[in-house]
Amino acid sequence: MTAEITQPDYESFRLFLHDACGILLGAASQKQVRRRLLRILGDHGLAGLPELADRLAGPGRNALREQVIDLLTRAESRWFTDELAFRFIAEQWLPAQGLPTQARNHVDRPLAIWSAACCTGEEPYGVAMLIEEFREAHPGRLADVTIVATDVAKGLLDTARQGEYDLMTGEDGLSAARRAAFFSQTGPDRWQVSPELRARVGFRKLNLREQSLPAGFDLVLCRNVLRYFTANVRQDLLTRVHRSLNPGGYLVLASTEAISGLTDLYEPVQCSPGIVYRKK
Ligand SMILES: C[S@@+](CC[C@H](N)C(=O)[O-])C[C@H]1O[C@@H](n2cnc3c(N)ncnc32)[C@H](O)[C@@H]1O
Repeated sequence: MTAEITQPDYESFRLFLHDACGILLGAASQKQVRRRLLRILGDHGLAGLPELADRLAGPGRNALREQVIDLLTRAESRWFTDELAFRFIAEQWLPAQGLPTQARNHVDRPLAIWSAACCTGEEPYGVAMLIEEFREAHPGRLADVTIVATDVAKGLLDTARQGEYDLMTGEDGLSAARRAAFFSQTGPDRWQVSPELRARVGFRKLNLREQSLPAGFDLVLCRNVLRYFTANVRQDLLTRVHRSLNPGGYLVLASTEAISGLTDLYEPVQCSPGIVYRKK
C-alpha cells in the first residue's frame, strides 16, 4: 500500500497532533516532516493521516505515540549553538554566583539548572562543560551544581544518556580543546562524553504540556521548543516555568524567542549579546 498525504489531511492531522501530543507542526508540510510521516505510515501499513490519527486515539497507542513524537520533533542539535545562552552562563551567570562575602570561609550555595527540551543532550552537556571550566579556573568554587535535562522524546533521551556523537572538529560547534577534555574517541569521528560529565546530568522524560513541572531551579534553559506550541500554550508554559524558578532565577530562551508580554513575571536583562529573563 502506498501512503498518501493530502493538504486537508495534513491540516486536520496537525490540529489532532497538537491536542493529542502537544506538538504543533508548521502550517505547510515541509519536505522533512512529510518524509517522516510517510515513514511512520509505511512502517504501520497505514493508508494516510486519518488512519494514523485513529490509531493514535485508539487503545495501545503509547508506543506509536512515542515513535511519532520522536520522529517529528527530532532535530539536529549542535554544540554551543546560539552565543546568547552560553556566553551569558560563562561570562555573567556563573561568575556572579555566590560571590564571596567573607573571602576566606566562603561556600557557594547549591545551584540547580534545568535544560527543558534537551534533545540529544548537547545543551546540558555544554552547560556542564562550562561549569567544569569555571571550577578549573576557580578551585573550590561551585562544588554543588545539579543539572536536570528533560525532553518529550524517548529516543532522543536515549541518545543523550549514551552521550555518543559523530564529531568533526570545525563542523559541529565543539572546539578541539573541549573535545579532548570532555570526550573519548570510540570510532572514526565518533566520540563519547566522559563518564564524569555524563554523571553530572540527570536525564528524564517530561512533556512540557504537563501541568506540573519540576521546581527549585536557579537557571532554566527553554530554547527552540516554544515553536512547537501555539501562542496560548507558550504563555501558559512560560507562566508555569516561572513557578519552577527560585527567586531571582533566570530563564534563557533562544535569541530569536521572547517572553511575549509576561513582563509582570519576568524582568528582561540585557546581555551582550541578547536578552535573558530574571524571575520577578
Ligand atoms: C530544536 S530542539 C531544541 C534543543 C535544544 N533546546 C537546543 O536549543 O539546542 C527541540 C526539542 O524540543 C522537544 N520538544 C518538542 N515538544 C516538546 C514537549 N511538548 N515537551 C518537551 N519537549 C518537547 C523536541 O523533542 C526536541 O528535542
